[in-house]
Amino acid sequence: MNIYISLDTCAQSVGSFEIFEKLKGINNPTFTLNKRSTRALMWLEPLLEIEQDNKQIAISNVENIDIENILKNPLNSKNLIDNIDNQPYLKNQHRVIFKNLGKNDPTSIEDYKKLGGFRALETVLKMESKDVIEKIKIADIRGRGGAFFPAYIKWQTVLNVQSDIKYVICNADEGDSGSFADRLIIENDPFSLIEAMIIAGITVNAKEGIVYLRSEYPNAKKVLQKAIDIAYQNNYLGKNDSYEFDLYIVTGGGAYVCGEETALIESLENKRGLVRPRPPLPAISGLFNKPTLINNVLSFIDIVRLFEGSRDTHTTPLQLSGAVKREGLFEVANDITIEELISKFADTPIDDIKAVQIGGPLGAFVPKEKFYLKLNNDELSKEGFILGHASVVAFNKNTNMKDILLNLIDFYIHESCGKCTPCRIGQVRLKEILTDLHLNTQSNLILLYDLLDTLKEASLCGLGGLTHLSALSSLKYFGNDFGIVDIQ
Ligand code: NAI
Ligand code: SF4
Repeated sequence: MNIYISLDTCAQSVGSFEIFEKLKGINNPTFTLNKRSTRALMWLEPLLEIEQDNKQIAISNVENIDIENILKNPLNSKNLIDNIDNQPYLKNQHRVIFKNLGKNDPTSIEDYKKLGGFRALETVLKMESKDVIEKIKIADIRGRGGAFFPAYIKWQTVLNVQSDIKYVICNADEGDSGSFADRLIIENDPFSLIEAMIIAGITVNAKEGIVYLRSEYPNAKKVLQKAIDIAYQNNYLGKNDSYEFDLYIVTGGGAYVCGEETALIESLENKRGLVRPRPPLPAISGLFNKPTLINNVLSFIDIVRLFEGSRDTHTTPLQLSGAVKREGLFEVANDITIEELISKFADTPIDDIKAVQIGGPLGAFVPKEKFYLKLNNDELSKEGFILGHASVVAFNKNTNMKDILLNLIDFYIHESCGKCTPCRIGQVRLKEILTDLHLNTQSNLILLYDLLDTLKEASLCGLGGLTHLSALSSLKYFGNDFGIVDIQ
């Protein structure tokens, strides 16, 4: 009997490590214990998957006290799931970026190779840079950090700039509340990221790569470092007969704004994380004024899947959390609606939900009456919403949206880097207007809208520039929570 369990952060937070240790301590030759990447179906964790006599079963929400009984008779366990791959919440997903989840030991390079690992690298090594970039262009791969910028333009720009030194940076400063896709990759499929960064280095002629990882992800750091060490031992990193590429991890200091690429670069240069005005773009003059390719974790993975041959279509890795029955990762190929995500995948009655916030703390609140919208950036942005990094946080029907907005504004104030006046001062004024003044007067509303417009037009980066999304959407759709009777 083979037993598989995940030790990723989410699984550990509900006790998988204790279960792993207990199983390890049991002297029973009838089973083999294996670490496995998570399925990212968080509501099922701790999840044990058992393979016996060619039959696969899973047992969800395992408790330590159940272990002996599970070992005696697994088929008799409570929360038994027969063939998890056939359950609609998994079967109806189309996992491309997350194709390896639930199938590998995260730090086993042999498992990675069995799943097609390093095939993409072999392919790219036979190609010229211009052809690699052309393929990325034809596949229309967009930046997954939230801005959807065409990846090939960035790669081409870095390739075109003449320089003896160039850098490849992976932006893994996943600061958006409700976002966990980058962490899932790093903790569960780190070799995919390593392979993607090697491909980027070879293509744009950079010999050095850096993963800028948020400090709040200590487990991800441990796993990624182990995978990097193994990649060095196996000659994929360092200097070999075909290329030279070094890769290391730098952890951030906890500032949200360091997810913005120029503040991230400042932080890497050992300076305070302040946003730099663009131009120059990092692709032309970035880290230590050298051409620098910065992409999000998922953008890199999308590209490795393209060259590995497993990217059959564009997918969206939706990260759902909050007031739903099933929280987790739902990667889908078609543009499903918000309603489908909540009712079908998360098994939650729509009437229980008041709003969702999509795209992190800077995203807009989408009210229930708009849940017919598809979860793609083009459709959402037509209505004044964004998809961003594709996190979806659900708020229950009793939520007061004014409380939520004020809480967010505290976050914006706290995280503002202070470089530009609209954000440094404007966020504080915004809180004052919303808290102290009576909104039900036309003059205060005019002042409020004027301030939001200034923030949008004159801020140096998204932290100030996107503030209007959460503020305007909550005022527009949940005016009652603000005591507004009639907004003109
Ligand atoms: P942006 O649209 O200004 O830039 C996108 C990227 O394209 C940047 O890397 C930029 O350097 C590059 N770029 C733009 N023009 C270029 C050109 N001509 N040649 C080469 N490269 C070029 O977006 P920005 O301000 O970098 O990011 C904002 C987005 O970040 C928002 O949409 C927001 O959703 C998202 N975001 C994501 C977070 C996360 O945790 N993933 C956190 C906060 C915001
Ligand atoms: Fe800094 Fe805010 Fe200006 Fe961005 S918008 S540069 S976070 S002060």
